[in-house]
Formats: sequence, structure tokens, C-alpha cells
Amino acid sequence: MVKIKTRWELIKAYVEFFKSKKHHEIPSASLIPENDPTVLFTTAGMHPLVSYLQGQRHPYGRRLVNAQKCIRTGDIDEVGNETHHTFFEMLGNWSLGDYWKKDAIEFSFEFLTRVLEIPVERLAVSCFAGDETAPRDGESAEIWKSLGIPEERIVFLSKSENWWGPAGETGPCGPDTEMFYWIGPEEVLPEKFDSEDKNWVEIWNDVFMQYNRTKEGRYESLSQKNVDTGMGVERTIAVLLGLDDNYKTPMFWPIIEEIELLSGKKYEDNKKEFRIIADHIKAAVFILGDERGVNPSNLGQGYVLRRLIRRAIRYGKILGIEGDFTVNVAKTVLPIYPDYQELHRNHKFIYAELEEEEKRFRQTLEKGLKMFEKVAKDEIISGREAFLLFQSFGFPIEMTVELANERGAKVDLEEYNEEFKKHQDLSRTSSAGQFKSGLADDSEQTKKLHTATHLLVEALKRVLNADVKQKGSNITPARSRFDFSFERKLTDEERQAVEDLVNEKISRGLEVKREEVPLQEAFEAGAQGEFGAKYPDVVSVYTVVEPDEEKGYFSKEICTGPHVRNTKDIGKFKILKEESVSAGVRRVKSVVE
Ligand code: ALA
Repeated sequence: MVKIKTRWELIKAYVEFFKSKKHHEIPSASLIPENDPTVLFTTAGMHPLVSYLQGQRHPYGRRLVNAQKCIRTGDIDEVGNETHHTFFEMLGNWSLGDYWKKDAIEFSFEFLTRVLEIPVERLAVSCFAGDETAPRDGESAEIWKSLGIPEERIVFLSKSENWWGPAGETGPCGPDTEMFYWIGPEEVLPEKFDSEDKNWVEIWNDVFMQYNRTKEGRYESLSQKNVDTGMGVERTIAVLLGLDDNYKTPMFWPIIEEIELLSGKKYEDNKKEFRIIADHIKAAVFILGDERGVNPSNLGQGYVLRRLIRRAIRYGKILGIEGDFTVNVAKTVLPIYPDYQELHRNHKFIYAELEEEEKRFRQTLEKGLKMFEKVAKDEIISGREAFLLFQSFGFPIEMTVELANERGAKVDLEEYNEEFKKHQDLSRTSSAGQFKSGLADDSEQTKKLHTATHLLVEALKRVLNADVKQKGSNITPARSRFDFSFERKLTDEERQAVEDLVNEKISRGLEVKREEVPLQEAFEAGAQGEFGAKYPDVVSVYTVVEPDEEKGYFSKEICTGPHVRNTKDIGKFKILKEESVSAGVRRVKSVVE
């Protein structure tokens, strides 16, 4: 049965199979979800499809299939066993109000037994046992039986096991039926399925999404019944290769070999450390290399990225790796994934960011560990000490907790949070009256250029594409320098169109309005922020009011200011230069006259 050996063969076979069942292939979406503050990362193939599961029409129809890159960070600190990964790929097929349980289960069964040639004897399934939200799923069990899964190989489990979603706090969800494969020796293959037996490995999940969970925790029926499925590529390949450890598959082994080389140690003797480094650096490569890539920071996705990189570095130190190593490890990741173009396009950025973050952390790691040794003499590490480790030595709190756990100590997290908040309030007060946003001063000329920069961001989005992201900004009285994500040089026409659009908005004399609002509200109102930036709970939002637009404004940004009151105060805007800064990042220099 070992016909399919590689991820690429599996992905191709899966996509082709579902295409033959009239599914349309869709590309893998970004790891950074668009317009969704409820989750930091794309955690499953269904995530980018939420609005279609809720009834919106998908441009490619009602049957979709793809392989989606995913990041799950809920259990970062659990990575270290055979099967937990932060980054993984998920195969999925969807019915958006089209086919239902019978077809979904038949497709799954046919793919497993005919395409992957898994013997029925090695399969078992679980179905939803039912509760106050939804009834017992006898229907799925009957379908499995009709296909040849014996009754002893079907179990009914509760919501904690056989219910999936929503991905964030709210959204589509429903009961599921999960498929398990027996990886143990044939001689001891039991007749009865026991979901607790580690030899039964879950490989696929068909979710029957017919509910929507509301903010209040209620489950409402969706307007349509959907099917959402998920098959983990890493786990399935391991199973097909007869391996009980995903890290021994071709998706990890080259990374493991590099770590063996760097450390002079063997994987077999140091599995946990090797797995953490391999997993975390791979995930960091995908986050940095994403089409909406972020930098390490202390906020949101950037903070997760920082934790991943720093934890990998600490484990590198435990393995005795001397000197910087994350880039060497990262370089083994790219050849495993030749099909993710964005990684290859952004490789310089990936390596540069890793190198910088590693340098930054290494400067303080040694001293931080010394301080930790001192404070960890007590059983409880105070919140103040934990905060000091964070502030002065760059130890993410999760790392301090992990270090403490290793020696049976505890961290006073409540006090840590208080310290954190106190510090935030302090820095907010002390920064009042100072100027952020890359401003050199608050002269009239700087203000003009600053407002012109807001118009520029929006103009770039409209002329080039909506995904353009601010990557940096620096304004002096003489000129503005603005960095943004974009793949290539602008054509002369595009450059002209951007300049013209900014000047049009200037000449229309639009009001520039300032408001103070809670951060969440600002995002909900559509305000743009800088990715990775650290924002306080209450932010100021600058809006360039445009009565001619449906939304009522041309640009809305979270920003500390200052700005001119009306766009007509800006004068004439001129782009002096447009050039490349690094892979996927462009720079515009401009002036106002
Ligand atoms: N969304 C489902 C999962 O992640 C299929 O398992």
C-alpha cells in the first residue's frame, strides 16, 4: 500500500480525487487571517471560508478542495511529542450547502480505501454521542456500517471529542465523525475500537457544520448545511510510511539532520529538544515568509513569532549548539516546500529577521538565565521578577513559566499581569506629548508630510492592491520615507496614478478628524494599523473624511499624530523616488511643496 510516499503525492492525489467529484481547487490562504480579530492565525482550512459557510456565495461554487497551510498555537508549550506541530498542512474538501453526510462519508471512505489503499480492517470511526445542542449522530454511523465498517469499530463520543469549531469564539461549527488508522502490528489488531489506545491514530475529520455559535454561547442553525473536512498531511504521511513519529517523515527529517550536525548530538537521545527546534523554526519560517508576513514583536502574531524563535534558541542552548544557528535550520525548511512560492520570494527577509532576532535575544539570554537562577531559588517567582526578566532580558512570560516548571517552581502570574499593566500605563503617560509614527518633530512641514503619508498608504492600496501593508515610516521636515509590502517596481503609470490620487484628495480640502477610541472599536470601525505595532487599550484614530465615499472617509488610521486639520493645508505632493528595500518591500520617498 505504500504507493504514496511524499506530501506532494498525497496533496496531488487528494486534490485530483475531489476534482473528479466535481470540487474546485482553491489556493492556500494566508496564515494571517484577513479582517478577523478573533484569531491570530489560520488554524484550519475552513477558516478563510467562514463567510461562505455562513451562506455567502463562493465564486468557485459549492464544492471546494485544497491543501491549507495552518498554524495552531494553543499548545506551543506542548510541542515535543510525536505529533504536535505548530505549523502543519491540512487537506480539506467542502460542501457549501451542497452534499451532506452520505456523500461526505462515501468520499472519505473511497479515498482512504481505494486511493490510499488502506485496508478496511485497519479503520475505525467515532461519531457524535449527542447532547442538548444536537442529537446523537446515528445517521453517520449507519452510513459507515453500510460501507463495511463493523459496529465494534464505531464509537459514539461526547462534545469534547466529536464536535469541531468554531475556530475563534464565534462562527460555524458542528458534530463530526473522525477516522482512525491502526498503526500497531497486525497480530494485535483488536476487533473493538478503543479511542484511548494510542495505536489508533486519527487521520481525518468530517465536520457537519450546521450550527453557528453566537457571542452569548448559543448555537443557531446556519442557513445551509455544510461539510468541512480536515486531514493532516504530516500525520497521514507518517502513517502511510509506517512511521510512529512525524519527525521521521521527509517533512521534518532534513531539519533534524541539520540540528544533529549543528549540535553533534543524536535525535534519538534528545527527541524533545530536536522536535521543539525543528517545529518552531519551521513555523517561524512560514510566518515570516507568509504573503502577509509579520516581524517579531511584543504584540499579536509578532509576539507568537518571537516566542517560537526564542524558545527554539533556548533549546538550542540546552543542546549545546554554539553560536547563531536559526538561519542554518531555516535553510533546510525551504527545499521541503518548493511549492510555497512566497517562502522562496521572501527568503532574504526570513533569514534577515531570524538573524536579527537571534542576535537580539542572545545578547540577553545568558544574563537573563543567571538572573533566573537567582530568583528561582524560591518556590514562587514574583510577578515583579518575571516582569524584569521580560523587560530587561526579553524572556517571554511563557518562557519564564516553562523554566520555572522545569524545576518545580511557580510564577505569580497575577502579579506579573499587574506589573505589565502598570508599566503600560506608565509608558503611555510618559509618551504623551512625544511623537511616534516615525516623526522627527512636530513642525508644520512634518505635519503636512505626515498627513500626506496617510493619503499615500490609501492611494497605494487602491492603485496597486488592497493587501499593501505599511512596513515602516520615517518623516523629517524635508521628506517622507514610507516602506510598504509589494512584490515589484511600480510602473510609471502606477506611480503617476498614486501621486494623482493623493493630490486629488488634497485639492478637495477634506477634513482630518481625530478621535480617541478603545482599540477593539478602532479595528471594528475599519481603522488600519501597522502590523506588529504595540498599541495601548485606547488609541487615537485619524480619519480623512470624504463625503463622496460610501464609507464616509478616504483613510482611517490608528496614529498618534499630529496632523494638519484639512488636506488643503498640505500643498502639492510629489513622489521623488520608488525603490526596493528588501524582498517584497518597497520604499517611496516623497515631498510636499
Ligand atoms: N476543521 C476541521 C478540523 O480542523 C475539519 O479538523
